Amino acid sequence: MKTARHSRHVGSKWRKNEALLGSRKLRTYLPETRKFNRTNLELMLSKYKMVYVKPINGSFGRGVMRVDIKPSSGTRSYQYQLEKKTRVFTTIDDLYTSIQKHKLTSNYLVQQGIHLLKYKKRRFDLRVMVQRSPEKVWKSTGHIGRLGHPKKIVTNYHSEGKPMAIELLLSPYIKDPMRMKSYIQTLRNLGEDIANHLKKSFPGIREIGVDIGVDHNMHPWIIEVNTSPDPYIFNQLKDKSMYRTVIRYSRLSGRFKRKK
Ligand SMILES: Nc1ncnc2c1ncn2[C@@H]1O[C@H](COP(=O)(O)OP(=O)(O)O)[C@@H](O)[C@H]1O
Ligand SMILES: [Mg+2]
Repeated sequence: MKTARHSRHVGSKWRKNEALLGSRKLRTYLPETRKFNRTNLELMLSKYKMVYVKPINGSFGRGVMRVDIKPSSGTRSYQYQLEKKTRVFTTIDDLYTSIQKHKLTSNYLVQQGIHLLKYKKRRFDLRVMVQRSPEKVWKSTGHIGRLGHPKKIVTNYHSEGKPMAIELLLSPYIKDPMRMKSYIQTLRNLGEDIANHLKKSFPGIREIGVDIGVDHNMHPWIIEVNTSPDPYIFNQLKDKSMYRTVIRYSRLSGRFKRKK
């Protein structure tokens, strides 16, 4: 019988984060993450000034909030954005009460916010697709960027984000083509390291999609790891070669057979 431990899908962002913390190497790519409560919100905000608050079992960017201390002279204020709406407060208590009211579900995380790079004033993050080959080796089969909607704080395709070539999104930041190639290779290798490590805690996983945020030092941060990543975003690229590879691997791992 299949136990939860052996299932293909692992929903909890908390459990996946805990598993990744077990690797000393991968730890350096993890934004600090805590369970959401009043104490942790205050602690994380004073430490990082900007944090993301999101459902432990979420997807599509739903219910994700970006909270920050408003950079204002004089009296300090707090604000958060959910969807396209920003709300401003003068006390942490009022901020916390409002967040509690607007949460989609009860279990949320508070995570160190990454100041994502922008392209034409819109935030973007990167997605690396890693799949198991029939030889049972993890392979990075695709990489893509996702450009957020100008008025939103998430980059998900299902939240009006636009899938685009990584090379284009990173072009203002990495000019040399050789450096670009090696930077993308580093991300692909990171994806494979993550898969190899996660597999120890979750032996049933077959493919992962890693959301990677890049800051102004070009440091890659693991925002989350999806265990049922959408292969179709790769079909949004003009060049279909990655899409074909991703679909071929998905078929080999039997992903589409289960659906009738
Ligand atoms: N810590 C963070 N720093 C910066 N951006 C973040 C952070 N967490 C989430 N985001 C943004 O919100 C999006 C959705 O968050 P994510 O954790 O991937 O949840 P979901 O399961 O809904 O995709 C990310 O793709 C990214 O654009
Ligand atoms: Mg995501």
